[in-house]
Amino acid sequence: MRGIVLVGFMGTGKTVVGRELASRLHWEMLDTDELIVTRAGKSISCIFSEDGEPAFRAMETGVLEVLMADNTASRVIATGGGIVLAENNWSLLRTLGRVICLSADPEVIRQRVRTAPDRPLLAGTPEEVRGRIYKLLQERQEAYAKADWSCNTNQRTPAEIADQILARFKSGE
Ligand code: S3P
Repeated sequence: MRGIVLVGFMGTGKTVVGRELASRLHWEMLDTDELIVTRAGKSISCIFSEDGEPAFRAMETGVLEVLMADNTASRVIATGGGIVLAENNWSLLRTLGRVICLSADPEVIRQRVRTAPDRPLLAGTPEEVRGRIYKLLQERQEAYAKADWSCNTNQRTPAEIADQILARFKSGE
């Protein structure tokens, strides 16, 4: 079964757009970050500080493998912003569904993540966070470009973004 997999940088709206898509399609919505937190029994910040980022990345692959083992119904899967980094995650992501990358300008992302908790990569002073957003976006540009298609979320509501995604998805793109 082919579902919809949302990838993209932190603050591009993967979770909120995923919920909107799932509700319109009457599909289940899953979020890899939430699945990791449940399986590990601790927050993402705790995983990063106690086990390290490589352990978190291994958990992301582990969750994709679990989802693959039960890939019988169409679902919307929202992923963590760094899931695109491991090359071996890509065949899993593509098997789980159409991979759609949500994007946004760095300053829009900065505004959106200002109050968001549990993002260890964006901890620090406002200036540090700003610098890290620009740096990570640049480093990950190529990885996000591997998605089947992408959708810009600047100044658009989740409902508008879902409209656009569903129109393209239903046309078989
Ligand atoms: C990360 C993004 C986060 C979460 C973790 C690492 C990243 O998810 O997986 O903090 O490397 O971009 P969101 O994109 O849902 O914030």
